[in-house]
Amino acid sequence: MGKYIIAGNWKMNKLPSETYDFVKEVAAKVSNASCEVVCCTPYVCLAPAVEAAKGTNVKIGAENLHFEDKGAFTGEVSADMLADLGVEYVIIGHSERRQYFAETDETVNLKTKKALSKGLVPIVCVGESLEQREAGVTMDLISMQVKKAFIGIDAADAAKVVIAYEPIWAIGTGKTATAEQAEEVCAGIRAVIAGLYGDDTAKAVTIQYGGSMNAGNAAELLAKPNIDGGLIGGASLKSEDFSVIVGAAK
Ligand code: 13P
Repeated sequence: MGKYIIAGNWKMNKLPSETYDFVKEVAAKVSNASCEVVCCTPYVCLAPAVEAAKGTNVKIGAENLHFEDKGAFTGEVSADMLADLGVEYVIIGHSERRQYFAETDETVNLKTKKALSKGLVPIVCVGESLEQREAGVTMDLISMQVKKAFIGIDAADAAKVVIAYEPIWAIGTGKTATAEQAEEVCAGIRAVIAGLYGDDTAKAVTIQYGGSMNAGNAAELLAKPNIDGGLIGGASLKSEDFSVIVGAAK
């Protein structure tokens, strides 16, 4: 299956002045990792994060980008700007951005294409609300989110995309999906990609689980055949917890 990737999503936490030391602390704890380790930070923390990650096995990601190359888009940050800094990953379409900042499947698709065209690895987030899960439409919704994210992307680029399955009801709630629930949807996502591009591409794509993943539950989730990593919120803010999760990804 896909390459194992454990990525932290700091969200709107940590200061630029804390970032260098924190990334160094993480790097010291994950130097023997057998998976890819990524810290996704706020824009203003990226420069010190990249600096601290130099010469380590930690990669740095952003939490968003704009889909245009440049121009009159006050407050926005382009893929070129991120790549120029040495950023390698970018989270796209996190449910918080869909909910609070009007991200849609269309903007997710535009951003995913832009990231790929600039050599950034997109971590595309998909996930259902509790209401949708209870209505029995989880896989219909996720399937649509995945298909729309991949519109206009060829198989070679598709294989580079990371999909993060993050059930909205499990984010920041302490309520994790069971390993079986997470595996069921991640397997479903892989089947959707297989339908679009064939089995080889589907196997190459990294599919992460995210939503209250922590040092205690990571091993069970990561043991599932279709879960190739995690997108970690709260637990990525503590280097010890984050490194335990990294250690569980084998
Ligand atoms: P928590 O790990 O804090 O639940 O957040 C998950 C998440 O949204 C990662 O992108």
